[in-house]
Amino acid sequence: MDTNAAAFVNANRLWERHMEMARHGATRAGGVNRQALSNEDFAARRALIDWGASIGLTACHDAAGNLFLRLAGTDAGAAPVMTGSHMDSQPTGGKFDGIYGVLAGLEALQAFREAGIVPQRPIELVAWMNEEGSRFAPGMMGSSVFAGAATLESIVPVTDAQGTSVGQELRRLQVAFGDLPICPLGRAVHAYVEAHIEQGPVLEREGLSVGVVSGIQGKRTFAVTVTGEESHAGTSRRAERRDALLCAIASIQAMAAEFHDPEDLVRFTVGRFDVTPNAPSVVPGSVRFSIDLRHPDSSVLIRLGDEVEAICRQHALPCAVQVLELSTAMSLEFPRRVRDIIRQAANEQAIATLDIPSAAGHDARYLHAVCPSGMIFVPCKDGISHNEAESATAQDLADGARVLTATLVRLACADAPHRV
Ligand code: GLV
Ligand code: MN
Ligand code: MN
Repeated sequence: MDTNAAAFVNANRLWERHMEMARHGATRAGGVNRQALSNEDFAARRALIDWGASIGLTACHDAAGNLFLRLAGTDAGAAPVMTGSHMDSQPTGGKFDGIYGVLAGLEALQAFREAGIVPQRPIELVAWMNEEGSRFAPGMMGSSVFAGAATLESIVPVTDAQGTSVGQELRRLQVAFGDLPICPLGRAVHAYVEAHIEQGPVLEREGLSVGVVSGIQGKRTFAVTVTGEESHAGTSRRAERRDALLCAIASIQAMAAEFHDPEDLVRFTVGRFDVTPNAPSVVPGSVRFSIDLRHPDSSVLIRLGDEVEAICRQHALPCAVQVLELSTAMSLEFPRRVRDIIRQAANEQAIATLDIPSAAGHDARYLHAVCPSGMIFVPCKDGISHNEAESATAQDLADGARVLTATLVRLACADAPHRV
C-alpha cells in the first residue's frame, strides 16, 4: 500500500471518462444537454454506477433522486465523508460543469483502491439531482431536500415545459434502477467537499490549477407572469391593447436600469422568456419570464430582490403581474477548518492555490448547513461556462482530483491510513 493515494490519480482515465460521459446528451456543437431525470441523465447514472461497481462501490438512490456510491470504511457506523456534484446540465451546457466534481470524486475513490487504502470513515460519492434548475425550477433540488431546506412534497409537483412532473420522473427512476436499494433521505454527514470548474477567469489568469473556494455569493430566483389580453394584431387599437409582451419588456428594462451597478457586482439575468400564444398575428396574452439575481453582499441582495415585485407592477400596467420567488439563498463562507485542510492537501501535492469566492451556485451551499463543507476549483478556458464551448485541460482536472484525494484522506482516515 502507498499512503499517498493522490499519486494514483490517473489524468488520462479522468479525461477519458469526461469524454465518455459527454456522449450522454451530446450536442452537435460539442456540448452537452443532459436534463435532470431525462433518459440521458439515466444513462450517465448507469455508466457511473458501473464504473463504481468495478472498484467495489455500492450504489443507492434516495427518494429525491440523489445517487450515492459508497466506499466502505473500517468503521461502518461512522458518518460518511461525501464528495461529488451534479450530472445534469444546461440545455447548451459543456462537458465539465458538475460532472467534473462527480468524476473527480470517482477518480479519488479509485486512487484509494489502487493505493490499497481503506479509510476509517465510509466515503460516499454523490450525484445530486437537478442542480441546474433548467428542466425543473428551482435548481439544487436534490441537495436542498437532502439538507432539509426543502421538502420532497414541495418538489414532487414541479413540472417541466411539457407538463411532466418531478414525481413522475422519480417514479420512472425507481423503475429503471429497480436493482438499487433506496437509502434514507437526509443522513448525518461528517464533511462534504465538492470539486468544480471555476466558471470564471481568475485561476487561468493567475496560472494556477487549483482554487480553495472561500464561499458562495447569494442568489434569489423568481418566476414572473404578466397577464394581458389576446387580441387581433390588425384590428385592436393601441388604447385597447393589453400587450403582455410590451409590458414584460418594460418591466425588465426598468429592473435592468434600477439594478445597474457601476461596481458591476449585481448580476441580473432574464434567461427564460415564454410568450403565449406566440403567434405572429395575435397580441400576446401572457408572458412568463425568469429572474436570476445575485450579489455577494446579502443585505444588497435582500434590498434589490424585495424591489422586484413593485417594479414589475409599476411598469407592466395595464397588464396584471404575479411574482413568485422560487429560491432564496444568502451569501455564505465555508468554514476555515475545511479550507485549511484543502490548502494543506494541495501543499502536500506541491500544487499552488488561491483563495477564491464562487460567483456561481453549487450544491455545497446546502451541504454547508448539514456538515463542514468546502470546494475545490480548477480553471476552465477563458472562464467560459453554461456554454457548449466550455473547456478545461486534463492536467488541471487531474491536479484538482489530486487535491481532492489528499483532502479525503485527511477527512476520512484516522491518524494514519489503514492498511488492507
Ligand atoms: C449553477 O449552476 C448556477 O447557476 O450558479
Ligand atoms: Mn455546476
Ligand atoms: Mn451549471
